[in-house]
Amino acid sequence: MAEIEKKPIKIMETVLRDAHQSLIATRMTTEQMLPIVDKMDKVGYHSVECWGGATFDASLRFLHEDPWDRLRKFRDGFKNTKLQMLFRGQNILGYRPYGDDVVEYFVQKSVANGIDIIRIFDCLNDLRNLQTAVKAANKEKAEAQVALSYTLGDAYTLEYWVDIAKKIQEMGANSICIKDMAGLLLPYQATELIGALKEAVDLPIQLHTHYTSGVASMTYMKAVEAGVDVIDTAISPFALGTSQPATEVMVEAFKGTPYDTGFDQNLLAEIADYFRPIRDEALESGLLNPKNLGVNIKTLLYQVPGGMLSNLTSQLKEQGAADKFYEVLEEVPRVRKDLGEPPLVTPSSQIVGTQAVFNVLMGERYKMATKETKDVLSGKYGATVKPFNEEVKKKVLGDNPEIITCRPADLIPDEMETLESEMAQYKQQDEDVLTYALFPQVATDFFKYREAQQKKVDATIADTENGNYPV
Ligand code: CO
Repeated sequence: MAEIEKKPIKIMETVLRDAHQSLIATRMTTEQMLPIVDKMDKVGYHSVECWGGATFDASLRFLHEDPWDRLRKFRDGFKNTKLQMLFRGQNILGYRPYGDDVVEYFVQKSVANGIDIIRIFDCLNDLRNLQTAVKAANKEKAEAQVALSYTLGDAYTLEYWVDIAKKIQEMGANSICIKDMAGLLLPYQATELIGALKEAVDLPIQLHTHYTSGVASMTYMKAVEAGVDVIDTAISPFALGTSQPATEVMVEAFKGTPYDTGFDQNLLAEIADYFRPIRDEALESGLLNPKNLGVNIKTLLYQVPGGMLSNLTSQLKEQGAADKFYEVLEEVPRVRKDLGEPPLVTPSSQIVGTQAVFNVLMGERYKMATKETKDVLSGKYGATVKPFNEEVKKKVLGDNPEIITCRPADLIPDEMETLESEMAQYKQQDEDVLTYALFPQVATDFFKYREAQQKKVDATIADTENGNYPV
């Protein structure tokens, strides 16, 4: 047998970001994470994903934590491991597109506070929506990783993925991620896709998938054999189900092969021991729904992300129309086609899902269109892979609609100055203006909470100095 060249597979650990976002609604606190950082730092992970995505919103809104402070604490603790974040292109970590100056400043501050790798994606895979963030990451000397939202459909041929990967290389990205948020990539398709990408571009390729449909570890194995450079896994107590394949399992599976990670299973076991009680507690409190831990074969059947299925169920329940579930599920791919067949990921998954619900419940397609549907059809989110359904577009937008064909952010004026003046009274650190930019109301509530806490501490100190020790 010919000697196979050694190529240890690299691993990104997701427990501090995607795994708890996927399983327990992003509710892990900084206090729960910090005690294990030291051990995690010794594993030899390619990177630890620990910031961005929904963590920013959730720490402010539900945990009353300053996300910047969390990041700085990670940076202090992880002395040898790269820190990675997930970034929604022009939407940063929020839900609307921002001016370029906000995107640039956010990237600058993320890197200054400790981020090494920024994974940037757009729900339409419109690369123009990523361009500012990629340039900013280049400027800050961070790794700019462009993530392609993986999806199935007529438009998404091997040629499409190869072509867009080449464009990503040309735009100055340092690596490419295939981001399969729904767990749709099947093992043998991974062989084809990764093989084609490795042939087409020189950039490292990272694969991100979810266990939702049950195929993820097999997909990783095939992807590794096809030459993928990095895979995303979660330590076992926070693995499987709607999260990623388990780190220890993938490490063991490649042991003694050219892909051997060399990781210490005893160390991984200690890390798993640390996280297990946190998971058990979440199961007991109901924060972790056991349903999220099984295989959801419907995601393969309907080719929609698991999260979208549960959103549809609850939307229909609210309307007292739970019996319309399958009708809506059949309407989803039709709406998706009408809207240019976008990948289904935040926010396009919500836009397509809600419009499908409207179409079914109103008894007439597009009798009512949401503001977001109108915005997609008028180009405000960017360009889709396939053209829109012209008939639908006419019905929704009327005869002479205003259509955007340029990069949507070209129409957004710089906004840092306005934001600075709006929140000046709360500012305690430069980063506060970015927190405010993303979630004005939640940030203001947090700033007030923070001030109240500080006053409490001051009062306690004054009391202590007066001899009134708290008991
Ligand atoms: Co994910």
